[in-house]
Amino acid sequence: MTVATRKIFVTTALPYANGAFHIGHIMEYIQADIWVRFQRMRGHSVHFVCADDAHGAPIMIAADKVGKTPQEFVAEIAAGRRPYLDGFAIAFDHWHSTDSPENVELSQGIYLALRAAGLIDVREIEQFYDPVKGMFLPDRYIQGECPVCAAPDQYGDSCESCGAVYGATELRNPRSALSGATPELRRSEHYFFRLSDPRCVAYLQDWTRQSDRRGVPRLQPEVFAKAQEWLGGPEGGKLADWDISRDAPYFGIEIPDAPGKYFYVWLDAPIGYLASLKAYCTGAGLDFDALVADPELEQYHFIGKDIIYFHVLFWPAMLHFAGRKTPERVNVHGFINVSGEKMSKSRGTGISPLRYLELGLDPDWLRYYLAAKLNNKVEDVDFNPDDFVARVNSDVVGKLVNIASRCAGFLTRRFDGVLGNADDDALAAFARSWAGADALADLYERRDSGKVVREVMQYADAVNQYIDASKPWEIAKDAARGDELQTVCTTAMTGFRDLVLLLAPIIPGLAQRALAQIGQTDTRWDAIGLPLPAGHRIMAYQHLSARVDPKQVDALFEAPASAVTATATPAAVKPAAAAALSSVAAPAPPEPGSEAISIDDFATLDLRVARVTGAEAVEGSKKLIRLTLDVGALGARTVFSGIRSAYAPEQLVGRHVVLVANLAPRTMKFGVSEGMVLSAGWDDPAQGSGIHLLEPDDGAAPGMKVR
Ligand code: MSP
Ligand code: ZN
Repeated sequence: MTVATRKIFVTTALPYANGAFHIGHIMEYIQADIWVRFQRMRGHSVHFVCADDAHGAPIMIAADKVGKTPQEFVAEIAAGRRPYLDGFAIAFDHWHSTDSPENVELSQGIYLALRAAGLIDVREIEQFYDPVKGMFLPDRYIQGECPVCAAPDQYGDSCESCGAVYGATELRNPRSALSGATPELRRSEHYFFRLSDPRCVAYLQDWTRQSDRRGVPRLQPEVFAKAQEWLGGPEGGKLADWDISRDAPYFGIEIPDAPGKYFYVWLDAPIGYLASLKAYCTGAGLDFDALVADPELEQYHFIGKDIIYFHVLFWPAMLHFAGRKTPERVNVHGFINVSGEKMSKSRGTGISPLRYLELGLDPDWLRYYLAAKLNNKVEDVDFNPDDFVARVNSDVVGKLVNIASRCAGFLTRRFDGVLGNADDDALAAFARSWAGADALADLYERRDSGKVVREVMQYADAVNQYIDASKPWEIAKDAARGDELQTVCTTAMTGFRDLVLLLAPIIPGLAQRALAQIGQTDTRWDAIGLPLPAGHRIMAYQHLSARVDPKQVDALFEAPASAVTATATPAAVKPAAAAALSSVAAPAPPEPGSEAISIDDFATLDLRVARVTGAEAVEGSKKLIRLTLDVGALGARTVFSGIRSAYAPEQLVGRHVVLVANLAPRTMKFGVSEGMVLSAGWDDPAQGSGIHLLEPDDGAAPGMKVR
């Protein structure tokens, strides 16, 4: 079916330029990339861009801490993006930065348009000031209880627990995250976007309810429900004006006619979508202004569930009242957890996408696995290592690649790769096994990749059943049945070609290799279902994808070599640290491999007495015991400790141990380990392989500091 050509503009959320990509970013890019590749296969014109979100106080403070300018700091982060994007085959047309001339111009222009529309107010406000640090505190550096749901330890801009967005001064029991001091209120002039203006409220009530030009609601039902909650239901009245300015010093864009005032990072961040498109247009010789003014241009954003507020309220209102095109749809996904655990930047958990690539794991495997798990709901997704191995091996290798590996060889060996006539009855049976190309196009369009994968696998099952029933390996034994052999293999390879095209947006690398072998140059969606003509020649079969080796996936959860001393054997203590622990007296002269440290270095360790309240062997590991520890005021901790060779779990319950309480948590295959239990042992196994847990003398209680 031919479809009229669409003009599509797609973005993913702009990642903060304060760290490397984590698996959550990669999931978002993969989801968007699948959609983009699908649209391109359909013949549509797609511009797909992203950028670093460079501005804001956190980046300014982080840069300062390492003695760099914010510009240097974000440039280094930007320089590290390529290997991830290339590695996972994310087909962005352009990667930009919000700290760019395009973004300055667009942000100031949009602001001036909003001001001309009477939607900017200037008001003096009271803001938290850190008397110790001598500066106004960014929202993110104030912590307290959420004013809406009372969740503890929330930041001053939004609540991670209920999603509410509020002003920092609304937090209950605030404290400065920079100094710990109770902040003081001081006065300063701020600029506001008047979101409470009846024009804005009416517009957003309308916009959030609309369907796009294809009849698909702009917002998923869960997202619409959130928007309604924030708007205050159909009567509205709940939207507050939005504080869009920050006082110098600030890393951001200057507000026109307002010396010393900068745009709050969330004002210029989404405008970065347009800035990136503009920079792309300049490079590609396209007319940006004409493109964004074109009523046919459809604009789509892929974002995570934590930034809905900014994208369905602020962003469309900003665009609309600045006289610009508003998003066609905002596509929201849930979060990815690893082995059932939430990953968290501050706790440093999750798995490293770069390590995945370095271990030689195929990017298509992760893309396939995530596609199989994703749909168009705002649901969290779990990366489970065993499930990953099983899924990829059974579907990609066992069902898909298996077809070619069972049939292509006969064609190349016996018929010089030349195809014969396909079996029309078999092709008709294949067609009945799945919903068909139009239905699958619809599933792709609606981002239901989980269903796409299920449908395609039904088709693959039908092809495999046909091969099982036809037994080409039996036919091949009889030289007189050559035609039959050629027909069976041609039929199976026709199915294989369809399967590869159907999955091409999801597994582009494998699809490209397979299509090259089939000798098919037509990679359009419309090529699905076309017969492979008799006489067409395929190339010799080459290995397309290996089975996932579970050991490789295990390695993903092991600490990289550089971190081995700190975390690889959670219960082992290194000689240098052991010496420091036992002798607080004058440090011994450094031996090779154990340099002297200062008392300040030692003080960075938070060592605590802990009581073992639970211990169990970890299924699937010979080394590990899962300990549950009572650490007094620090609460309960889970620690995976490599002490199984020396201790039975039941021996451990009730005893005291020494815990490194401030060791960065680490995601292991079995869960997150929140610290390390100290033990003594030899480096050289020839001296003995025993492991001996450290224990305080009687009278020590859980939570006590060890120093
Ligand atoms: N800089 C802002 C976005 C500005 S958009 C104009 C930001 N950056 S972020 O780096 O924190 O997040 C970028 C994207 O990654 C967001 O869509 C966010 O929802 C997504 N994810 C962050 N953690 C995630 C998971 N654990 N799982 C899936 N996506 C997650 O927010
Ligand atoms: Zn809350």
